[in-house]
Amino acid sequence: EAASAPKAAKFALKDSPNHSLDLMSVIVELVTAGIRAAFPQLGEEPVDALVSVPSGKVSTDAMYQSNAAMRLAAQLKAKGTKMPPREVAAAFTAAIPKNDIISGYEIAGPGFVNIDINTSFLEGVTTKLLNKGVLPPEHTKQPVIVDFSSPNIAKEMHVGHLRSTIIGESIARMLEYIGHDVQRVNHVGDWGTPFGMLICHLRDKFPNFQSEPPSISDLQGFYKAAKKRFDEEPEFKPRVYEAVVKLQAHDPETILAWNLVCDVSRREFQRIYDRLDIDVKEKGESFYQDMMVEVVKQLESAGKLEEDDTAPGRKIAWSSVKKETKVPLIVVKSDGARCGMTGYTYDTSDLAALRYRASQATWLVYVVDNGQSTHFQNVFALGRDMEWVSPKHRVDHVGFGVVLGEDGKRFKTRSGDTVRLKDLLDEGVERAGAAARTTEMTPEQRARMVEAIAYGCIKYADLSHNRTNDYVFSYDKMLQDKGNTAVYLLYANTRVHSILRNPEIAKQNIDIDALAPSHTVTLTHPKEIKIAKYLARFPEVLNRTIDTLMPHRLCDYIYELTNVFTEFYQECYAVQKQSDGSVKVDVNRLMLYKSVGMVLEQAFHLLGIRAIEAI
Ligand code: ARG
Repeated sequence: EAASAPKAAKFALKDSPNHSLDLMSVIVELVTAGIRAAFPQLGEEPVDALVSVPSGKVSTDAMYQSNAAMRLAAQLKAKGTKMPPREVAAAFTAAIPKNDIISGYEIAGPGFVNIDINTSFLEGVTTKLLNKGVLPPEHTKQPVIVDFSSPNIAKEMHVGHLRSTIIGESIARMLEYIGHDVQRVNHVGDWGTPFGMLICHLRDKFPNFQSEPPSISDLQGFYKAAKKRFDEEPEFKPRVYEAVVKLQAHDPETILAWNLVCDVSRREFQRIYDRLDIDVKEKGESFYQDMMVEVVKQLESAGKLEEDDTAPGRKIAWSSVKKETKVPLIVVKSDGARCGMTGYTYDTSDLAALRYRASQATWLVYVVDNGQSTHFQNVFALGRDMEWVSPKHRVDHVGFGVVLGEDGKRFKTRSGDTVRLKDLLDEGVERAGAAARTTEMTPEQRARMVEAIAYGCIKYADLSHNRTNDYVFSYDKMLQDKGNTAVYLLYANTRVHSILRNPEIAKQNIDIDALAPSHTVTLTHPKEIKIAKYLARFPEVLNRTIDTLMPHRLCDYIYELTNVFTEFYQECYAVQKQSDGSVKVDVNRLMLYKSVGMVLEQAFHLLGIRAIEAI
């Protein structure tokens, strides 16, 4: 037994030159090895190292904490070993493999283990960060599809789509950053009966639309008028159905009309995407049109389709989660047969999209509001039942809550209308302009800065809240320069840059950028060590943010990092006048400042926020 104990073997740290280390995972591995070595009687029984970051309330400088002892004591008791948790903690810490990462253990309270990290190890991590730049943690490349934004043609993009757009863009950036092969998909609603209405109305209003394409400025109003005719004019309806059939058959004139309509919306969406630095490729519901035939055929032969007694012609399918959700998927619409077409639905298009996507990627992400969670549970379950999705696929519905106004009700304008995104962004820019501190800047620089602040604030306010909850949209709150806001973080980063631009540095011929790639960081002051500990957490925070697809975790981290930076900045001067009148420049501290700026800017980028250099 002694021979197999890992205690004898020195822990080998896999340090990849092109990646940064997820330190928390290493600690989990070490603690788990200690537990296994100390308690062979647990055999193969699962154990949990329960490693976390001590909360601010605990008075310890330790970087990590393990709460495993309490649970282990219970597990051991069940195996006939009675041992109080503190003794359990002492036993497994003593058995943790020798390594040069952990500096020591402290057993606190009923059996919490505080785990601290060697300063020399932190010096190594910070030096690598400074020399090589911020590197992503290591991952095996995977093809991933992220479905986000996904507004509906001929309808206004609303705040719900804004949330999807902001969250989806950030998730796509993070997945790309760690090396995945990401397809960003805009699943626009561009198919179905509404398009038959739009096409017929277009033909009537603009008979020459083929040679003289009209510019429809108010497509929503245009759609409303078409819908009114559909509901009120008996002779309009059959024409609409005919147009839908022709659309499904790819009739050239019909497709032209359809494209004309779609282009109006496309241009509007693109204006929003350009303002917010959003990159997403359109692959709307229409893309899956022909695949739906095959999907319905497969469901049919698998015996999954049922006639629905309540509506003639309607075909439904129950997924294996039907007990929880109690709604079937509607695969074929009832009004189809009436006009010689098979009418498919939103459900059918998502089944076809799922089947197609599963053939293209191993990880599928859908960033869509919580209101559609039953729909996605059903679609994903049926996809698994049909084995279109294998057990190896990861499929996530990244749901999110609604945007509330300051009155706690759904976000609306004063007159009760839905807020147009354009107006929302315009007001943000206006308010940020009024709040921005003025310095010497050209009007262009100022406009760029104000936009970065406005859009940064709107995005950060969204991303920094746990996405599953509703959140209150408040310009006043998001534009505050204190608290967990983009303004606070952006200003902290500008402070880093202004320190690095201190004229005394150039006067002494010190070139920080030139020295950074080869500088070796030393950590002596407690605040230097503390800031290094926070910097070293970036890879593990990113991994956990991506594991859970919860961007607020990264936000919480940069907020804490910024708070620690503020403490560091107040105590650790880098440029200081000496009593003899000379000025001492501490290059090592400047390097720590620079490292903080590097991590903040990388995080800003992952959140879709533009950094500003000066205020
Ligand atoms: N267009 C839909 C809506 O506005 C969202 C589409 C989301 N993606 C999907 N694959 N269903 O509600």
